[in-house]
Amino acid sequence: MDKNRVLIFDTTLRDGEQSPGATMTHEEKLEIAEMLDEMGVDIIEAGFPIASEGDFRAVTEISKRAKNAVICGLSRANFKDIDRCWEAVKHSRQPRIHTFIGTSPLHRDMHDLTQDQMATRVHDCVTHARNLTDNVQWSSMDATRTEWEFLKRTVDIAIKAGATTINIPDTVGYTAPAESADLIRRLIAEVDGAQDVIFATHCHNDLGLATANSLAAVDGGARQIECTINGLGERAGNTALEEVVMAMKVRHDIMPYSTVVDSTKIMNISRRVAAVSGFNVQFNKAIVGKNAFAHESGIHQDGMLKNRETFEVMRPEDVGLSETNLVMGKHSGRAALRSKLEDLGFELGDNELMDVFVRFKELADRKKEVYDDDLIALMRTNDGDEDHLKLTALKVVCGTDGPQSAEMTVVVDGAEKSVTATGDGPVDATFNAVKQLYSHDARLQLYQVSAVTEGTDAQATVSVRLEEEGRIATGQSADTDTVVASARAYINALNRLIVRRTKSAPGADVKGVDYKDAG
Ligand code: KIV
Ligand code: ZN
Repeated sequence: MDKNRVLIFDTTLRDGEQSPGATMTHEEKLEIAEMLDEMGVDIIEAGFPIASEGDFRAVTEISKRAKNAVICGLSRANFKDIDRCWEAVKHSRQPRIHTFIGTSPLHRDMHDLTQDQMATRVHDCVTHARNLTDNVQWSSMDATRTEWEFLKRTVDIAIKAGATTINIPDTVGYTAPAESADLIRRLIAEVDGAQDVIFATHCHNDLGLATANSLAAVDGGARQIECTINGLGERAGNTALEEVVMAMKVRHDIMPYSTVVDSTKIMNISRRVAAVSGFNVQFNKAIVGKNAFAHESGIHQDGMLKNRETFEVMRPEDVGLSETNLVMGKHSGRAALRSKLEDLGFELGDNELMDVFVRFKELADRKKEVYDDDLIALMRTNDGDEDHLKLTALKVVCGTDGPQSAEMTVVVDGAEKSVTATGDGPVDATFNAVKQLYSHDARLQLYQVSAVTEGTDAQATVSVRLEEEGRIATGQSADTDTVVASARAYINALNRLIVRRTKSAPGADVKGVDYKDAG
């Protein structure tokens, strides 16, 4: 392999999906995996197979389907996890087992293991994994807070036991660029056999340094960056794939490294991950934020008209952002809609297109101009045919004299039910109506509204996250009526929660397994 080639290891479906509230459905995971595979990601960490039946199924299916990427599963450092991981990834054309344990003093105390006991565990687990496959990744979790001598010892043992990739995670986002580079450089220089394996960097963004730390690690000799789309991940998230890929591309003069990621596919996958995870991208986020290529001020606009390079270090097209935004109207046909949605990264079957077309026409009747962002919002409205609850009517009375009231009709498992509920504001009244129609104890964790475009006829996208006995579900909807969008998003989240109730025992999903516990 070219010595400056950097492997991109995407963990959106494992570390990203593991972040509270970002849970994706099986189909969504398959869709994201397919997009990652098509965009040229080298390794897809598809999940944590022992964590739940759902994770196992997803990793298995992704392993069967992936055409290009190595498919990796995570496992704690014990034989049961490793065997389960292998059962899922073995279907891949290129399977990888990733096993880890926290090696810092805090983690050793938590596991009640001495350095010697932990060293034995590293040896036994990597050897066990290596007996199953020749592609094994070892991670000394919390490496950046592990004593140097002990870190070196775990890396040395893992390499001798046959690990082919050594990951040095900055699990709590604690390191800084110079230290990140130095750590990898010294490990490669001082551990026997280190030149024959790939060193990986896995940074969290607690201090906002994940991208800088990952790129510094590459300067230090790392040749695998672990990252997620949009930087999705627990707490402040992981290194953002789009940032490291574009940084190495745009500043190739000082970072002469290359990847095989097709950067023009970045925007589409970013939008899709935002949609399925329910984690909106902040407007000023580098590369994929709504404002990343927007030039509002007079001086900037003037400069841009004369020469785009005045205020842009890369072209919007480089990341897959189309130049024209104004798109469709009520006279646009189905073929035009299909082609526009394909440009935006949505491949639809005929039936799905019919359904979207009907909703598009309804929207075009209400809204003079339908923009790309409106279509994306429309696609984010994720009602399903199998839904237990379906909203059929909603009338809300608002005014300066409360309480506000909501008259709602919902079909619950085939039976139509109506109610009028009051509340502190129209949304509260609406949510109370849903609770009266379908009694449940789910707690509202997130209610988020944002305007899709400008103008008073803009659609609002609403995200709702509900939690019940440790299970979390997110629902989304978009409508020019904010209260209708809110009702649909709430009902959508509830439908997903009901499905999850029937599919798993409480705590049986990935959040139920403490990945800090090496089992
Ligand atoms: O952050 C971390 O240390 C991890 C490991 C499991 C690699 O995600
Ligand atoms: Zn992590």
